This record gives sequence, C-alpha cells and structure tokens, in this order.
Amino acid sequence: MTEAMAGSREDPHAQARSARSAPVLLHSMSIFREIFEIVFARRGIRTVVEIGVESGQVSGIYAELGASDVYCVDPEPTERVRSAVEANDALHLVTEPSPEVLPRLPVADLYVLDGDHNYAVVRREVAWILEHAPDAVVAMHDLLWPWGRRDLYYEPSPLKAGDRHPISEDGPTVWHDELTPAGFVGLGAFTVARHAGGERNGVLTAVEDALAEHPEWRFELVPAVFGMGILYRAETDPDEALQRALRPYTTSNLLAAMENNRIALYTRVLQMQFEAAAQADDRDRLADTVAAQRHEIDRLTAELHRAWAVLRSG
Ligand SMILES: C[S@@+](CC[C@H](N)C(=O)[O-])C[C@H]1O[C@@H](n2cnc3c(N)ncnc32)[C@H](O)[C@@H]1O
Repeated sequence: MTEAMAGSREDPHAQARSARSAPVLLHSMSIFREIFEIVFARRGIRTVVEIGVESGQVSGIYAELGASDVYCVDPEPTERVRSAVEANDALHLVTEPSPEVLPRLPVADLYVLDGDHNYAVVRREVAWILEHAPDAVVAMHDLLWPWGRRDLYYEPSPLKAGDRHPISEDGPTVWHDELTPAGFVGLGAFTVARHAGGERNGVLTAVEDALAEHPEWRFELVPAVFGMGILYRAETDPDEALQRALRPYTTSNLLAAMENNRIALYTRVLQMQFEAAAQADDRDRLADTVAAQRHEIDRLTAELHRAWAVLRSG
C-alpha cells in the first residue's frame, strides 16, 4: 500500500500520476468499493438491484464481488452501459424508472440507490424496499451536501407538480447559502429545489422519514464523496459484525473533514471557471466592438478621401 500510494525513490511521481488520472470531481460509487467488499464479505449477496447506473462503472464491481445477477436500472442508459451489460452475463439492463419498476424485479439482497436524488423518489424507493426486502442491505449515495437536504430533479422530470419544490437552474455552492449560476449546476440535465431544508426535501430527509416508520432498521453514514448511506435491519446483524467492520469509516472525522475540504475546493473551482468564462465573453464582446468601430473608421476615412478628391478636382 505505501509504495503503491507514495511511490519510491526510483519512482517519485507515482502518487502524482495516480492523482492526475482521477477525475477532478469524484462522484461514482465505484470509489466505495472497499465498503461494498465489507458488505459482501458479511452477507450472502447474490442478487443486486442497482438504481442509477450512468457510466456503468460500478455494475461490474458487484459481479466481481460475487453477485450472480445485477439488475442495472436506468431510464437513460449510455452506450457504455449497454456495452458493459452485453459483455457480462451477470448484468441485466432495465430501462424503466425507479421506484415504479421495483415490484417487477426479483427481491434483491443488495439495493444500491443512486438514481433521481429527490425526496419523492427516494422516499418511495426506501419505503418499498424496507417493506418487501426485510433482509436486504441498502446502499445509497448523496446523503450529504448538496442533495442531502435539497432535491435534485433529472429533467425532464416525470414527477407530479405536487412532488416537486419550485425549481432553479442555478446550483448550490458551499461559499454561501444562496443558489448561483457559478455553483453546482445541471446544465440542462437536472434542476434543483430553490430552497434547501424543510420538509420533504432531499435524500437524507427521505431516509429519516422512512426510518421513523421502521425503527428496526439501522442507518450508517460514510461521510465521504457526497455521503454513502447503508441501511440494514439490526436483526440481520446479530453479532454486530457488519456494524463493527463499517465503524472505521462511519465514525471517521478525518473522512468528514476531507469531504468538506473537497466540496469547498471543487465549488471554488466552479466559481473560478464561471468567472473565467464571463471574462472571456467580455473580452469577445470588447473585441467585436473594437472591430465594428475600426470598420466604421475605415468607412469614414474612405468617404473623406473621396470628398477631398472631389474638392481637389473641382
Ligand atoms: C449519479 S448517476 C449514477 C451514477 C452511478 N451510480 C455511479 O456511481 O457511477 C444517476 C443516474 O440515475 C439515472 N436516473 C435518473 N432517474 C432515475 C430513475 N427514476 N430511476 C433509475 N435511474 C434514474 C440517471 O439517468 C443517471 O444515469
């Protein structure tokens, strides 16, 4: 681990190489592989329902860890997902949206919720699972900032008006509490609730409300990369082996501090990109104005020359 992480005297750039090969914004649940390893090692997980697949980066991990069937649910599957599913017999693509599709799929040992990150959808997903899959583990993403207490809606949203808060195309930043076009914006892919907090708003609020009706379920939170939640019935972990194995992650102040630093830095980068783009627009507008004025000056000069020529010849 040390050499893989820190390199060596002969290869001092190993860590930097690894750092620059990662995306600027980590957001895929593939980063939680070691948490999934803990879950798979302690539970007989054969069937997985993965809601929200995007690139398909994580789907193969469940098969690698021992799942025989992984139902990859995403109404907008990319070509990359389609190829990943075709190449792996354990993966099955489902293009109906969640939560509507849940009753039509086999009851799973592990549900991974990372689809539409809003109260209405997550509340229904969790309610269905807690009622119909009492022995399952549920892994969920985006329990912390920005979607823990603020709804995100993939657009066009199939939700009824009553299930959505008033929306904005601006996005949140950690640098102030108001939304801003320089924040975490969806660029047409998603909108966000104009207000954070309150009732029926955000992924964490949905989980809290579902748990209030099912106190027999335990909730763990890993405070990294937007927050990963893990739900399971306390009775399915009688010796608390799963809870103990997760503890170094769920109680880590270090992870929480690094996550806060990460979102602060990332939203600062977003703001700087926005300002750089605005300055580039200003420069372009100025260049257009100067070009138009030069053209006008050239036209007036030519007119003047013509007038002089007429005067001289007269
Ligand atoms: C954040 S991405 C998922 C990322 C993926 N889980 C990963 O960790 O790499 C969210 C995905 O959810 C999908 N999605 C949106 N609404 C959904 C719904 N109602 N049911 C299932 N998937 C949905 C979107 O198309 C998008 O691909």
